[in-house]
Amino acid sequence: MHEYLSDHVHLSDDGTAVVILDQTRLPGRTEYLTLRTAREMFDAIRLLQVRGAPAIGICAAYDLYVLARQLRAGSPAQFLAQLRQQAAVLASARPTAVNLSWALERMLKAAAAQRTTADMLSALHRECIAIHEEDIAMCRAISEYGLTLLRDGDGVLTHCNAGPLATSRYGTALGPLLLGSERGMRFRVFADETRPLLQGARLTSYELSRAGVDVTLICDNMASLVMKNGWVQACLVGCDRVAANGDTANKIGTSGVAILARHYGIPFYVLGPTSTIDLSCATGADIPIEQRDPDEIKQMFYREPMAPAAVRCYNPAFDVTDHELISGIVTEYGICRAPYTESLRAVFDKKSAGIPGEGRPFL
Ligand code: MRU
Repeated sequence: MHEYLSDHVHLSDDGTAVVILDQTRLPGRTEYLTLRTAREMFDAIRLLQVRGAPAIGICAAYDLYVLARQLRAGSPAQFLAQLRQQAAVLASARPTAVNLSWALERMLKAAAAQRTTADMLSALHRECIAIHEEDIAMCRAISEYGLTLLRDGDGVLTHCNAGPLATSRYGTALGPLLLGSERGMRFRVFADETRPLLQGARLTSYELSRAGVDVTLICDNMASLVMKNGWVQACLVGCDRVAANGDTANKIGTSGVAILARHYGIPFYVLGPTSTIDLSCATGADIPIEQRDPDEIKQMFYREPMAPAAVRCYNPAFDVTDHELISGIVTEYGICRAPYTESLRAVFDKKSAGIPGEGRPFL
């Protein structure tokens, strides 16, 4: 089995801190951060020191447990009220990836089901571990399903980073590639660099090359040529929030990849867990899109600023890919096909029916 950086978010041994690998330092430096305060935790998510929809959910769950241990409340009701305040602050760090609020709500629900503060703390501890463990199983199941869509020797284009660093293990969009390569399959992967924060250059090409997968880094504006050359048989991307009709928010630039894929007749697949599906959003128009600091465009990663200091910038972190451009949405419960309004609902029916076990993926 390959060495993945799958333990990049975890609780400290004494449970008083959350330890994360600082993803803003990769690939050059492998540095871990120890988060103890609400401010440090908020900043770690906001500044993308931890990033990727499932990973920020896992991190936030651990964060809330650590913060809960610091609360000094007179009664269980006060404890719960303070916990809700802490959760609201963490949830506001990034608005698009629904896994963040999903994980925090799960934690609050687990605490609210208890009577005493001590029991609430135990329940919070169990819940954050469960969220992390379920993510590991989820990645594995998505990787297995995703692998059925690929053939040995395929060229695959991916955008942003949906690998182990964005999740817990295997990842979502990179999962089939890592799993397949463990089984001796060979793929030729094209990783979009993913401007402006370069998750493709810094993280995807790093993860795949460490795992021995053939990866070629391209600038975002080269995807069309690479597809036209016949080098891409499938596009695999992750997701930050999937609406009930299948419209999918993912890293800015994803919708352009989907439009190109349609033009060249290449299947375009979205891979993500059910925790990223938000049936309360009817369409992509209901998904909040995070706007980020203009300096990410003007000067970040440059030796000196590459734009006039005062120029106006538009820097949305995500865009929405129209469901009509998506060939399939791969979840831990199987592959959803159009019409997504029906197939996504069916996935939740399976999940709530507890098939084959409460909240457990199929594989
Ligand atoms: O801004 P980021 O780096 O958190 O954006 C990440 C993505 O868009 C990923 O594709 C998505 O979260 C899926 S991760 C399995």
